[in-house]
Amino acid sequence: MISPEIIEEIKYRCDITDVISTYVPLKRAGSNYNGHCPFHSERTPSFTVFPATRSFYCFGCGAGGDVVTFIMKRENLDYRSALEMLAKRAGIELPREERREDTGAIKRERILSMNRDAARFFHACLYDPNLGANGLRYLTERGLSGATIKHFGLGFAPDSFGNVTDHLTKLGYTAEEMSVGFLCGISKKSGRPYDYFRNRVIFPIIDVTGNVVAFGGRVMDDSVPKYLNTSDTPAFKKSRNLFALNYAKSKCADRLILCEGYMDVIALHAHGFENAVATLGTAITPEQARIMAKYTKQVIISYDSDEAGQRAANKAMKLLSEVGLDVRVLRVTGAKDPDEFLRKNGTAAHEKFKLLLDNSRAQFEFKLDGVLSRHDISIIDERIKAAAELCRIISEVYSEAERDVYIGVVSDKLEIPRDSLKNDVKRAMREREKSQKKEEIQAVINKTAGYGDRVNPDMVKNTGAVNAEENILGILLLYPENLAAVKKGKIELSSTDFFSEFNRKVFEEALARCDDTGKFDFSLLNEVFDVDSMGRITSMVIKRRRLKENGTELLCDMISRLREETRHRKNEGDDMAQIADILASQRNKLKKT
Ligand code: GTP
Ligand code: MN
Repeated sequence: MISPEIIEEIKYRCDITDVISTYVPLKRAGSNYNGHCPFHSERTPSFTVFPATRSFYCFGCGAGGDVVTFIMKRENLDYRSALEMLAKRAGIELPREERREDTGAIKRERILSMNRDAARFFHACLYDPNLGANGLRYLTERGLSGATIKHFGLGFAPDSFGNVTDHLTKLGYTAEEMSVGFLCGISKKSGRPYDYFRNRVIFPIIDVTGNVVAFGGRVMDDSVPKYLNTSDTPAFKKSRNLFALNYAKSKCADRLILCEGYMDVIALHAHGFENAVATLGTAITPEQARIMAKYTKQVIISYDSDEAGQRAANKAMKLLSEVGLDVRVLRVTGAKDPDEFLRKNGTAAHEKFKLLLDNSRAQFEFKLDGVLSRHDISIIDERIKAAAELCRIISEVYSEAERDVYIGVVSDKLEIPRDSLKNDVKRAMREREKSQKKEEIQAVINKTAGYGDRVNPDMVKNTGAVNAEENILGILLLYPENLAAVKKGKIELSSTDFFSEFNRKVFEEALARCDDTGKFDFSLLNEVFDVDSMGRITSMVIKRRRLKENGTELLCDMISRLREETRHRKNEGDDMAQIADILASQRNKLKKT
């Protein structure tokens, strides 16, 4: 564990306003600073930095925390790595023993070292004629050269239950480590570990710092599942990684190619397009979109040419433009995916794919193509439908100049006067605004009722109690001397008073990190709460800080209110239980007669 003193020193030297302003242009607003939130797309700045409490909060999306949370969220780092990054910035050398924590839990470092050993083993198996001949033949038949296989560190998992586990056991890894790292399963019958990947070619997934974080394994025939992938582990989050970004990151300042499959990426790199990456067997996530935005300005989506691929492209386009990326879509012709396209075009492959890249369509053209392919515009009715769809699409465009250009294109294509299209676009914009307002109002209603609250799912069960809890926690964290008073028993409050599990945990963790004099560093909570939770905790503090009344008296009032609310609930629960009992006994009587 990094000591509170060192964290304090890091935070002192890494002023939150300085750090955040290297990512987000900030404007002074009274004693605070405002800017456009880096975590969601917005047109009016609702992202606020509060130098006084050394915290930030976005009133739009609820992201919040301190400088450490900001770095964790923005740089996709865990708590420790975020502190290391800030320490480096501040010129603080973390003491050797402060670098590693040693609790019972299986550590990221341990899994990473195991993965590295496993990757070496898989790679060696590929070249072992007794074990990996089939794997090597498969990859070679798919057109991969020895150099490409080495470059990506491809491997082979032998057709046996024990090769990998035996090897890793010899190197000192425990069955628990292997199973947490998804390299083995544990047999229900014997309790012994067995290899997870068997008779599959192996694609190691390497993060931007060069760690082997996961594996994908492909069968060599038509059996299913075609791919097995590592699930999330302490060292890997599928939604935050991209295949081959470790190579692409230094080649993609201008444009990045986004594919669906590992094989597409490998083939592209082998043909000189080293700026290609792929998601890991799932649809693209907002986190992945943000990561791409860190490395490049433009993304060219190059998905499978079938219907499903094009639909996925539509979704990806939305997410990518939301993080401010310039998005284009490429459609491979005469092949199902980029890999097949390159194979088919032999020595001309590079030139041909380059042509596809240069002809990739910007968003509007892509959508226009889609609409025109669905409607036969020589038929009047169809032409009207196409026009309506296109007006709706154009109405989503923010810039008026851009809208004008598109209206011109549609007017020429459909032979409809500009002015009537212009009116239709205006109407569509008004309708959109109306329905957006409605959605916003509904969202506020849902939020106050606690529906869909992922951070605190108990909210919906008893909004009154949870609101009281949030007020209590807000005051305790804003003025930690109250926490100390709770600790000493001067204010009566214990974790059993809390109704919601989340708030109870916040209370317990804060109490455990506060000393008797009321010294408490908010930052320490980053260690136990994820960034979404930190946003919620920050909002509790910010809300209280904006109010004048935060004294002990109010705190005690809130505590009584919380008790009142939960007692209420308990009685209600008892009543329900009684009614259920009565009904049950009546039913039993009925059965007997
Ligand atoms: P091949 O060219 O057939 O080797 O595959 P591909 O790389 O073209 O993959 P495909 O387009 O079939 O699928 C795209 C990606 O989805 C793959 O690279 C995998 O990451 C993932 N994927 C495909 N099939 C499965 C599956 O059965 N299970 C899981 N978890 N992921 C899969
Ligand atoms: Mn393929």
